[in-house]
Amino acid sequence: MALAIHVMKPRFSHANEIKVGVIGYGGAFNMGRMHLQDMQKAGMTPRAVAEPDAARVAVAAQEFPGIQTYARVDEMLAKSDVNLVVLITPHNTHAPLALQCLNAGRHVVCEKPFAITTEECDAMIAAAKKANVMVSTFHNRHWDGSILKALEVIRSGMIGDVVRVEGHMGQWGKPGDWWRSSKSISGGVLYDWGVHVLEYTLQIVNAEISEVTGFAKRGFWAAQSKWGADTVEDEGFAVVRFKNGVWATLCVTNLDANPKRGMVEVTGTKGSFWWDYDNHEITVRDGDATIVTKGRNPPVQWEKYYANIAAHLTQGEPLVITPEWSRRPIHILDLADRSAREGRSLAAKYS
Ligand SMILES: NC(=O)c1ccc[n+]([C@@H]2O[C@H](COP(=O)([O-])OP(=O)(O)OC[C@H]3O[C@@H](n4cnc5c(N)ncnc54)[C@H](O)[C@@H]3O)[C@@H](O)[C@H]2O)c1
Repeated sequence: MALAIHVMKPRFSHANEIKVGVIGYGGAFNMGRMHLQDMQKAGMTPRAVAEPDAARVAVAAQEFPGIQTYARVDEMLAKSDVNLVVLITPHNTHAPLALQCLNAGRHVVCEKPFAITTEECDAMIAAAKKANVMVSTFHNRHWDGSILKALEVIRSGMIGDVVRVEGHMGQWGKPGDWWRSSKSISGGVLYDWGVHVLEYTLQIVNAEISEVTGFAKRGFWAAQSKWGADTVEDEGFAVVRFKNGVWATLCVTNLDANPKRGMVEVTGTKGSFWWDYDNHEITVRDGDATIVTKGRNPPVQWEKYYANIAAHLTQGEPLVITPEWSRRPIHILDLADRSAREGRSLAAKYS
């Protein structure tokens, strides 16, 4: 299936002219440092950090001596010459911050998920077009060793024609106190890891989305959660029907008393490909024989994300993670959320 190819005139003659400002330098995974280091490796120049938490600003100043620091985004946009802004903030801030930066004429890389709703994605895509700048999502896991191996095996024909893709992330217990457990801030239990799993799925199933059915169990953990009625679903479940007849499921649950093994399983007409964080397993049926091949996942190649961004902005190389591609998993998540509330399947607006 064809999506828009983003080719634009090179904006910079050298990657070091790309001056990067990050918004959000949080402590959960120190993602700000990771982004700036990866962008440096791609030849770009770390220039500024906008972060309201003074303690985190101090960390940024220590890790990148001489970097400009701002408590407010509008101040950074007004005073700094940053021309590419990276959003590393909670999910409900992605769309408003992206619009603010795009409208200020800055290129934008948004951490995953691109946004929470389809309409937010539409507005971000329109704003980027209007300002004639780039917007993309940091889908680093597009280059996970596991999905790269899965695509290689599937394309070789080893497991036959793909019938179904199942994604499952399960644990037992009350969601943590962090913002990811707030429905209004995170988008819901499916958004944080589910968007990665859906992005894997969309690489495997190269077909248009037909419809989405969502299910949600709410209220079991809410009484014990700091977020009360705003706590994410105990379990979110989505079924995606593709126009080529393949279907995919996604389950993210805090009600998994007997956590199932694995993260993704692809079932084909000749066998299956299964993986978790570290390992994969290929099972092929040949007559009465069952041939199982186990292996460690190859290393991640996340550096390819910013290498592509730099090449896009300096040489006009087509963008790999286009905004239209980024909108596809969000459209599924958004439809699943609405479907669960309405109790019926919903047709896809964007295939
Ligand atoms: N791609 C990946 O592998 C990966 C891994 C971890 C996190 N993430 C994503 O990164 C994003 C941030 O997650 P995190 O774990 O770093 O969260 P975090 O809570 O550690 O950090 C968020 C930071 O954003 C700041 N912030 C909040 N609102 C802001 C605003 N309006 N302006 C400026 N700063 C603001 C907060 O003060 C905080 O320091 C999320 O989208 C998350 O899904 C992606």
